[in-house]
Amino acid sequence: LKWVEPTVMADLYFEKFPSQKQLLYTNPCADPRHRKMLTANVTCSDNHLPNVVIVGPQKTGTTALLEFLKIHPNITSNEPVPDSFEELQFFGGSHYHLGFDWYADKFKPKREHKVVIEKTANYFDNPATPLALSTMLPEAKIIVMIDNPVERAYSWYQHVRFHNDPVALKYSMEELVSFLPGSAEYNETTRLRLRCLKPGHYAEHLDRWLDYFPPSQIIIVDSSSFKHEPLESLDKVISRLDLKPHFDYSRHMTYVEKKGFYCGIQNGKPKCLGAGKGRKYDDMHVYARIRLNSYFAPHNRALYGLLTRYKLDIPFWLTQFLHING
Ligand code: A3P
Repeated sequence: LKWVEPTVMADLYFEKFPSQKQLLYTNPCADPRHRKMLTANVTCSDNHLPNVVIVGPQKTGTTALLEFLKIHPNITSNEPVPDSFEELQFFGGSHYHLGFDWYADKFKPKREHKVVIEKTANYFDNPATPLALSTMLPEAKIIVMIDNPVERAYSWYQHVRFHNDPVALKYSMEELVSFLPGSAEYNETTRLRLRCLKPGHYAEHLDRWLDYFPPSQIIIVDSSSFKHEPLESLDKVISRLDLKPHFDYSRHMTYVEKKGFYCGIQNGKPKCLGAGKGRKYDDMHVYARIRLNSYFAPHNRALYGLLTRYKLDIPFWLTQFLHING
């Protein structure tokens, strides 16, 4: 045995255990010794931290689901974070380095809030998130919204166009999915194409979540059903969150023709999500749809296999997709 400086010891340690280089926060409230070291502004009440996380992916209706769930008197969420689309983007994200106190401080549940939800839509396909999230919130229920990846990709493409992404403004969706590998246009559009399509490789991402969370903690929401029949989807989610008594969402929501979506009711008037949710744009070109259907077919088959193996809910659109596309 010999004594070495702490920094030298750290180097030796990480040389031996390189996989542990990733910084991981646990929940100090779960350990009485750690609890004593917390700063004064963090109190470890029973339901302080989220017990449900909506992990995405983006453009599947995650904002609508969170907003509608919050109408329930026993459900709350975190305070919005203005610089990142109101999301905390913590686990594996840009705010993780700010640490446990920063995260915990964003939640101020009251006694009646039995369910505390965090929603960050790009957790789903971030490879670093499942481990980081399960290390701090091992008991959390994970809500995954699954939409037809073809529709999801198109919605995402429209979203970045709206935000003036120069590549998305230059090329149409059908061009994006038809450039041949090796061409200058293919190279120019690679980054955008990957960001557009990869979150829709659902099986690949979900498999990673299942490495860290048991299937009983994972709640699959069919985005397409939710979009058209949110009341039914909300009832299902509420029952999976063990909230009683039954809450009648139909008294708190209404369909708004002009918006083309369901909206909440506030002070007797409909209150819809902002203009960035439920945008109006042209239908997808048939050629882009054909290309995307064949691109996503193997991914969707893998998803069906995974959901079946773990006895998770199978979205209706997926059964239809496989019926048509094999
Ligand atoms: P579009 O704007 O492309 O139609 P997210 O919040 O995860 O980014 O998802 C945005 C999508 O939520 C919207 O995409 C829209 O289709 C869908 N959505 C589902 N229910 C909605 C609702 N009640 N109001 C607005 N958008 C809704």
